[in-house]
Amino acid sequence: MGDQVFVSTHPLVQHKLALLRSNLTEPKKFRELVREIAQLIFYEATEDLSLAPLTVQTPLAPCEGFEVADRIGVIPILRAGLGMSEAIIDILPTVHVWHLGLYRDHETLQPVTYYNKLPSEPNIDLSLIVDPMLATGGSAVAAVDILKQWGARRIKFLGLIASPEGVQALTAAHPDVDIHLAAIDRFLNERGYIVPGLGDAGDRQFGTG
Ligand code: PRP
Ligand code: URA
Repeated sequence: MGDQVFVSTHPLVQHKLALLRSNLTEPKKFRELVREIAQLIFYEATEDLSLAPLTVQTPLAPCEGFEVADRIGVIPILRAGLGMSEAIIDILPTVHVWHLGLYRDHETLQPVTYYNKLPSEPNIDLSLIVDPMLATGGSAVAAVDILKQWGARRIKFLGLIASPEGVQALTAAHPDVDIHLAAIDRFLNERGYIVPGLGDAGDRQFGTG
């Protein structure tokens, strides 16, 4: 595994990940867990953000502090990335969220773009693509291609579970993109599902399928 791939070893992430995977976890609890793990992965993936000094007034005195200086764009891949982007904008309300609609064709497993809400100018310092599942890697590679064509320079991918094949595909296509995950699983099955994985992340969040 290259030095651009970061798999969380945090006990809270691993504890919540096991609950997320369980087929006893119903959609309401599943969405809550996606949200909590996304915030923890976001925390780990943003330790290199730039800060700018600022002064606030406490009830007692002025106090020197900091604010995040980087302008951050969060790009959820629809549908399953939605739960992650909502969690991130709650913890850092200054981020901009731009939706990207990609789905995998069930026959070919190739990504199909159906929605793109990127603004005309890439007026941000850091783009975070969020999608719980990195399976064949096709969707993530396509999302990075779109962002690079748009002009984004610093890009990270934040996911929950990846297959070794997906990590390989994304690192080979885009070696400059850091990948932050909660787990890399055993393999991808013949239908393109990560094993053991958690099933279909979109269906499990939204009660479909
Ligand atoms: C899932 C998932 C990723 C993609 C990963 O989305 O959320 O976007 O598959 O697979 P890949 O790495 O092989 O491209 P899906 O196509 O099921 O769409 P949905 O989120 O709308 O259900
Ligand atoms: N998309 C999912 O939601 N789950 C997988 O295992 C693979 C792709």
